[in-house]
Amino acid sequence: MRRTILGQVGLCSAVLLLTACVAPRSGTSSRDQGVASTTGLVVSTDAIASDVGAAILRRGGNAVDAAIATAFALAVTHPAAGNIGGGGFMVIRTPSGEATTIDYREVAPQRSTPTMYVGADGTIDRALTAQGYLAPGVPGTVRGLELAHRRFGVLPWRDIVRPAAALASDGITLTASLAASLNGQLRGSMGRFPSSVAAYAKPGGGTWVAGDRLVQPDLGRALRTIADEGPEAFYRGWIADSMVADIQRNGGIITHADLAAYRAVERAPVRGSFRGYEIIGMPPPSSGGIAVIQMLNLVEPMGLERSGRWSPRTLHHLIEVRRLAFLDRARYLGDPDFAAIPTAKLLDPGYAATLRASIDSSRAASSVALGRDIVTVPTDRESDETTHFSVIDGAGMAVSNTYTLEASYGSKAVVRGAGFLLNNEMGDFNKLPGLTNLTGDIGTAPNLIAPGKRMLSSMSPTIVTRDGAVVLITGSPGGRTIINTVFDVVLNVTLFGMSGREAVDAPRLHHQWLPDAATFEAAAVDSSTLLALRAMGHSVRAQGRQGDAHSIVVDPRTGIAYGINDRRSADSKASR
Ligand code: DON
Repeated sequence: MRRTILGQVGLCSAVLLLTACVAPRSGTSSRDQGVASTTGLVVSTDAIASDVGAAILRRGGNAVDAAIATAFALAVTHPAAGNIGGGGFMVIRTPSGEATTIDYREVAPQRSTPTMYVGADGTIDRALTAQGYLAPGVPGTVRGLELAHRRFGVLPWRDIVRPAAALASDGITLTASLAASLNGQLRGSMGRFPSSVAAYAKPGGGTWVAGDRLVQPDLGRALRTIADEGPEAFYRGWIADSMVADIQRNGGIITHADLAAYRAVERAPVRGSFRGYEIIGMPPPSSGGIAVIQMLNLVEPMGLERSGRWSPRTLHHLIEVRRLAFLDRARYLGDPDFAAIPTAKLLDPGYAATLRASIDSSRAASSVALGRDIVTVPTDRESDETTHFSVIDGAGMAVSNTYTLEASYGSKAVVRGAGFLLNNEMGDFNKLPGLTNLTGDIGTAPNLIAPGKRMLSSMSPTIVTRDGAVVLITGSPGGRTIINTVFDVVLNVTLFGMSGREAVDAPRLHHQWLPDAATFEAAAVDSSTLLALRAMGHSVRAQGRQGDAHSIVVDPRTGIAYGINDRRSADSKASR
């Protein structure tokens, strides 16, 4: 089925009356194969940050150096999700084939309790995890980037961090989308935090427009200190003092002891094999690696490539495997340092075969019936702000990094005097023990709040290899949709034979067990397919864009890497 992009837009708006139509379906030919390079690439949601990373590659830095520089730069240029006050995950594969991961997820402060977000009426007080000073976990980003540098970096730390400090102090020119984003935040809940207004409002008043200059002097000072004195300054020096003073003045619970105790952790990746490819993913406390591999295991023998990428049969099965993997996510996953996670079982193709046998090839299962043992009562929407970038260097070292403040602009609260946003990651814990409902709250034990524990994540930085060589580096923001975005991109490349550009452009599908409804980017499902899926018992509806998957594919025949920015985000770029 071949269609022009124009045809898709027409179909989307006229027939399906959908909110957005972001991408052509596969089969739409695309001559744009991405930015080609044999010397290295950085692909991120922000052009300035990609350029900073690429400059580090040109100066002789490796992919890890470039990733660290990009991460610090995004903290300046993409404040919605780039950060030093949040956390994330990095998957690294060296040219010799060694693969490892850096877990720099935030942890719950020592004074946290399992019911700290439950109000007097016994329900979750979502305002407390949405904004303000009780919402953050102990930030992990600076320790994580430090650990990555200690393990793999070749350029001096100072040289890698300094470019970001200069961007903050000298200022950046606002794009239209960043100007609109800041204006929206300042009009909204960020506007009630004076330190955030001081950091992000236009000097002299008025609204930001494209071309204005955003200078962040406090952030510049903090980054310069981190560059010159090292990461310790964030966790014990004046930056830590500012953070603790501001948090405690405003009713938060993070202490100096929490900051001093924070450790990033190197963990073995989870691995799967799929049609001759090896999948290297993030282990718990991310749910992403396990869920993506579990879904690939479920799909492997189904022969979906013969049914066509967008047929009702394919989409039905792709919904059902998501339902099953997300049920196991709810049942089993959390911080492995606190809960026994049955990782080997979940990754086992034999276990997948048992689950697969339960799938009815022509009828949607019931999520509630499948999870009857853990669903308690018959809404917590995760936001879409996180950011992913992919890096490869000339020697073939690959880095897949996703990090986040959780919501867009995190807790909305900037640390006074230090100029950076605090995360609101505590909301990723199961906030009401025992409450698992139809709208997506989960109350199972493995992800309840406990001091020092990492909250379960869906971030899924992923590297795919074949015959010992990297073929795909990918990942995405999007809360629980991340897992499905990554699954879709991996399937598009490995099973459906799309080019990198087609794989990233192709519309995406989401189902997360509960709520029991599939959502899709408009172009994924035409009207007859929609009817067919509904006839099978699926609840399906279109939504706006899903994810932001800045990816790299490598042509195994030529060794040329192609940087594929996700065109869903206006400021993204693949830089070499
Ligand atoms: O770690 C997680 O799964 C979430 N805190 C990520 C949040 C997210 O992706 C929001 N937006 N893109």
